[in-house]
Amino acid sequence: MPVNLKGRNFLTLKDFSPAEIRYLLDLAADLKAKKRAGIRTNLLVGKNIVLLFEKTSTRTRCAFEVAAYDEGAGVTFLDSKSSQMGKKESMADTAKVLGRFFDGIEYRGYDQAVVEGLAKDSGIPVWNGLTDVDHPTQALADIMTLRENTAKPLNKCKLVFCGDTRNNVAYCLMYICCKLGIDYVGWGPKELAPAKEVVEYCRKVGAETGAKVEFGEELALLKGADALYTDIWASMGEEDKIPERVKQLTPYRVTKEVFEATENPDCIFMHCLPSFHDFNTTMAASQKELGYDIREVTDDVFLGPQSRVFDEAENRMHTIKAVMVATIGNI
Ligand code: CP
Ligand code: NVA
Repeated sequence: MPVNLKGRNFLTLKDFSPAEIRYLLDLAADLKAKKRAGIRTNLLVGKNIVLLFEKTSTRTRCAFEVAAYDEGAGVTFLDSKSSQMGKKESMADTAKVLGRFFDGIEYRGYDQAVVEGLAKDSGIPVWNGLTDVDHPTQALADIMTLRENTAKPLNKCKLVFCGDTRNNVAYCLMYICCKLGIDYVGWGPKELAPAKEVVEYCRKVGAETGAKVEFGEELALLKGADALYTDIWASMGEEDKIPERVKQLTPYRVTKEVFEATENPDCIFMHCLPSFHDFNTTMAASQKELGYDIREVTDDVFLGPQSRVFDEAENRMHTIKAVMVATIGNI
């Protein structure tokens, strides 16, 4: 059956079939090739989108804006400080108003229920730009990057997420891996293990697609990985947890020695960014003064030959463009 995503929300990859996810990855690759070749596709001409941010962003906001401009759409940006959203006007009323103005809504915030509510109340497609428990546009870009860097079919690949295995990025990677038959390992401490229902869901889907879904603290789990992935140790909104996380996650910092445990010379390093890989940020430097080394990865890996982190960042734009084109575009 041909895939048609017109009018759909993009709230979590759990809502998408393997064929639909592959369609989005293929569309992103096609749009990337066309952009490289200087071919203008104009697939969002006449559309207007709004970007709602209750947390900060560099990549996600820029990816939505550039993707929209590339395809001819109008863009409005709103954050909680400069709008009535949430303070003087409920999210339900906000959604109803935005549904009258726009063709699609991007939302980044805390609770997944908010992005679901926006979708219900606005009546137009809503795209999840990150919540506390999911980051689906990130996972699409990540798997696009993995696919560009391996000669193997995806269902023969293995991805290992290192560190806080119950954060939003880990969860969206679990969802996309289990859907596409990619073996997934969460390497991190028991105290930060994913929720039972998330693991059960992924194992159930994995049983159908052939994806193994494993967790543990042993370095041996990294053997044969095609990608080692990590993320910051305290996500946005969790900064008060830094001392505890440094204690829990220092053994899971991605170093050259950890990387060698993959025993795969072709293994790539991935990260959603932003990353603490040195002390050249005010947060890493101020935490160091307090005695906390918050680096989740060392410079030799982050800047090393196996790192694909900036390709991954670029692919955010191509995949977000594919999501918008597929759900509201003129195709
Ligand atoms: N990876 C990612 O979502 O980056 P931003 O927080 O900069 O959007
Ligand atoms: N886990 C991180 C991802 C940032 C893109 C956070 O939520 O802050």
